[in-house]
Amino acid sequence: MDPKLPSSTAHGGSVAVIGAGPAGLITAHTLVQDGFEVQILTRDKTVGGVWREGRVYPDLQINSVNGELSFSSLEMPQPDTVWGRLTGSDLNAYMEAFAAAYLHEKIRLETEVVRIQRGASGSGWLVDVEDKRTGESDSLSFARIVLCTGGCNTPTVPDSLSPAAAESVGFKGPVFHSKYFRSRLDDVLDAVKPIGPEGREAADSVIVVGGGKSAQDVAAYLANEGRKVTVVYDTMDCFLASPRPLPDFIRKSRVLSIMTPHINLRTYLERFLHTTWIGAKIVHAFWDFLAGSAFSAIGAAEDSPLRRIHSPFWSIRISDEGVPRPNRFHMLASSGKIDLVAPARVASYGHDGQSVVLHDGRVLRANAVILATGYSSSWDSIFDTQTTVKLGLKRHAPTLNAEKYHWDYRSLSNPPPAHRDGAQWASSIYRGLVPAKNIAKRDFAINGAVISTNHGMLCEVSAHWISSYFLGDQLRIPATPEDAFEAAERQAAWIRQRYPNMLLWTNESYSSSIEFCTWPQAVDELLEEMDLPSMRSGGNWLTWPFKVVDLKEIATLKEERDAKRGQAQRM
Ligand SMILES: Cc1cc2nc3c(=O)[nH]c(=O)nc-3n(C[C@H](O)[C@H](O)[C@H](O)COP(=O)(O)OP(=O)(O)OC[C@H]3O[C@@H](n4cnc5c(N)ncnc54)[C@H](O)[C@@H]3O)c2cc1C
Ligand SMILES: NC(=O)c1ccc[n+]([C@@H]2O[C@H](COP(=O)([O-])OP(=O)(O)OC[C@H]3O[C@@H](n4cnc5c(N)ncnc54)[C@H](OP(=O)(O)O)[C@@H]3O)[C@@H](O)[C@H]2O)c1
Repeated sequence: MDPKLPSSTAHGGSVAVIGAGPAGLITAHTLVQDGFEVQILTRDKTVGGVWREGRVYPDLQINSVNGELSFSSLEMPQPDTVWGRLTGSDLNAYMEAFAAAYLHEKIRLETEVVRIQRGASGSGWLVDVEDKRTGESDSLSFARIVLCTGGCNTPTVPDSLSPAAAESVGFKGPVFHSKYFRSRLDDVLDAVKPIGPEGREAADSVIVVGGGKSAQDVAAYLANEGRKVTVVYDTMDCFLASPRPLPDFIRKSRVLSIMTPHINLRTYLERFLHTTWIGAKIVHAFWDFLAGSAFSAIGAAEDSPLRRIHSPFWSIRISDEGVPRPNRFHMLASSGKIDLVAPARVASYGHDGQSVVLHDGRVLRANAVILATGYSSSWDSIFDTQTTVKLGLKRHAPTLNAEKYHWDYRSLSNPPPAHRDGAQWASSIYRGLVPAKNIAKRDFAINGAVISTNHGMLCEVSAHWISSYFLGDQLRIPATPEDAFEAAERQAAWIRQRYPNMLLWTNESYSSSIEFCTWPQAVDELLEEMDLPSMRSGGNWLTWPFKVVDLKEIATLKEERDAKRGQAQRM
């Protein structure tokens, strides 16, 4: 061990958890409970990650289809609004309360991680940090690392639309990425006057670039502030909506997950649904019904650009709008209070200083531009090439081996055209948690990068899995890097077949693996790898798909793991 490394405690040793978003907080809490000496490093002034103070803005609401981004040890206070939706402020308060309750003095704020490298002797990790208050640099040593840096922190901004490009042609209004919506909100409201008595045509205008959830949310906010907003996009995220709230036995149960094929069809019902002709018909009719009822619920006209969506079955972009409300994006757009220009892309800024030019040459008036153009990997800036390669963090072309994997599922017939570069997508991160190349060392893991519709529950179970992995518990996982690589290669082949046109959307730190609606199956598999009971929501042969999956099911995982470890030691 590197001489600079702190000595191990009875249980674990020192761990740096990088990031204080939901994934970092639950990982750190779990590791602390297991006796590790944990330090959370975050560059932010406060905890919460995406949900921190200063990033959430008024009206931001959680859109998770299944879970509520909370953890079993602290109940999430339920909102008292008629719409029953948690807001960004609720999430922020929850993350702050969680950190105050369990992670006192474990968090080093305003500490940017600029480099992570192996310790000089080949074990442990050196973490170079910069204090954002003083600008001072420091080098810290840890026995283990858990990377929880999230996938929505490093803005992607097309060069031709960057603030610098705007400035170079003398664009007069504010131009910024949606990440900065909270901090730049007053600039937009100052630069763009509300629609006056002369009407929309004559009004100042905000252009929002992109069709993702960020574009929808910021557009709705500004429209509600009386501004004229135009959203320019090619294809929009799909959404679920219904005139009445969907009952919990649909929304919070396994229903959506079994209507979605998983790499392993674990039950008779899933095999029926995905491998038989009639089953596949039911599956697609179900998703078509959900998409159709969402459009009906918002009253979208047959030719509405709102219908230019990704297919919900083939997508990892679905938001849950619940009961449509007049002040939310879809209703505002379908009632003409937000303008939509689609299919279209913004190409550049006009030379008159107050317009943007679209790819087809059309010109739109613009007094401010918000780039809701997504995010790139948060890992790129913290690993040098050598460490990235040694760990195998980057996507890569599939190996020849990958050709042997194919799933003959009826529900996967007639896929959408694959993205031309999608065939090159492979990740070698086992279960999205551990780089295959490093699996035997048990000193590096990732949490929060598996994209799912129940981030809270998947992160909590993953945190237990990671802690067991670090503790050297017996896990049913590949023992060698070669076996882990093969398993990751199979998973990547599955993901390519399952989401042929979606893969380039997600950055590495947001999708080390994809378990979008299939998080219950993923949770079951993680529990089984820890040799713990799975399918905990119970029910009989008829009712099990409809049983609500509750965080309480995983509240005793630590005690269960301790008992297993005790048993193993006695044997
Ligand atoms: C506006 C918005 C709304 C969203 N709404 C939902 C939703 O409703 N439901 C849902 O499931 N998902 C949603 N997401 C996705 C979101 O990413 C997750 O909800 C969740 O916040 C991810 O948690 P995380 O802990 O993995 O990452 P994050 O919350 O992104 O936290 C990452 C942490 O890492 C830190 N960090 C990153 N790089 C460094 C570095 N170099 N040095 C030090 N610290 C670093 C950050 O400061 C932060 O503390 C939303 C995303 C956005 C942008
Ligand atoms: N309320 C909420 O819960 C909430 C709010 C915000 C975000 N989120 C979540 O956060 C994640 C990120 O969402 P996001 O909306 O910020 O990013 P995103 O989903 O990656 O969407 C980015 C959008 O920008 C478009 N785009 C990218 N480059 C472009 C370019 N050069 N020109 C024009 N358009 C371009 C993309 O279009 P193409 O796909 O056509 O390239 C896409 O429509 C998602 O998981 C989302 O669900 C949730």
